[in-house]
Amino acid sequence: MTVRVPGKVNLQLSVGPLREDGYHDIATLFQAVSIFDDVRVALAEDRDRQDLFAIMINADHPHGIPTDKGNLAYLAAELMFNRFQLDTPIDITIEKRIPVAGGMAGGSANAAGVIVAIDSLFSLGLSKSEMEELGAEIGSDVPFSIAGGTAVGTGRGEQLTPALARGEYSWVLALSSNGLSTPAIYKECDRLREGMEISAPQVNESLMHALRSGDAKALGKSLQNDLQPAACSIRPALRLILDVGMDYGALGGIVSGSGPTVAFLAEDEDHALDLVVALTSSGVVGNVVRATGPVVGATVIDR
Ligand code: C5P
Repeated sequence: MTVRVPGKVNLQLSVGPLREDGYHDIATLFQAVSIFDDVRVALAEDRDRQDLFAIMINADHPHGIPTDKGNLAYLAAELMFNRFQLDTPIDITIEKRIPVAGGMAGGSANAAGVIVAIDSLFSLGLSKSEMEELGAEIGSDVPFSIAGGTAVGTGRGEQLTPALARGEYSWVLALSSNGLSTPAIYKECDRLREGMEISAPQVNESLMHALRSGDAKALGKSLQNDLQPAACSIRPALRLILDVGMDYGALGGIVSGSGPTVAFLAEDEDHALDLVVALTSSGVVGNVVRATGPVVGATVIDR
């Protein structure tokens, strides 16, 4: 059973004050984009094997990606096995293309893939919303990885409402080979805002309007991420990347989620290609790729 799962960018990320449980209430607009991981789940050949889950990672740089409880895919498998009393060992193979710890919900996408694959493999018959609820127990971004499209996320980001988005958007993503830790970025955000009055998070109306009318120029101007100052504080090179992309005519540029991926909005595919060339030749970014959004969430592509 192979499930294809998309990465995401946050078109807006509004962060409220620190909650007592260590999370922050947020209001965010997610868009799933066309960078995909493939998660393959198969029954293990050795049905009497001790370990219920074996995770294999195929990636350009697989080192440092955990294959145990440190991987959200493992936690998702464990949750599904406990909840549905499954006991046949499975092999999980992840083809990784979404940047690791890149602010594009790559780990969450893998957990989403495991939930959807186990549902199909064991014929559990779960609805999408049931799978999203299970995903929320693993991480704040997992429900969106299952849902896909364009959606408003509230609460920790796990409460989703589909957003009306017209048209297709062309993105240029400046990837970093060194990831950033999401908890560290939220912590830095709290530090930078210490002593300030922080209001409840809200989705920006002009952004929603731009999306409804399919107006890429207006959307580019409305991109906004409260975690961006924190990501730039910890990784100052991101400011330079943002400046270069804007100098080369991007409609808008933003750190995606907790970073360090920087997402630039282009007018169309040709403009995106120009931006890729300009950013690559500027020498400030190693790896620049194009993606379009919105795309669908976790989908079974092979049985
Ligand atoms: O939910 P997830 O496991 O992806 O969150 C990772 C960490 O990011 C949390 O432990 C928390 O420190 C931070 N976080 C937060 N507020 C959110 C989402 C995540 O503070 N809404």
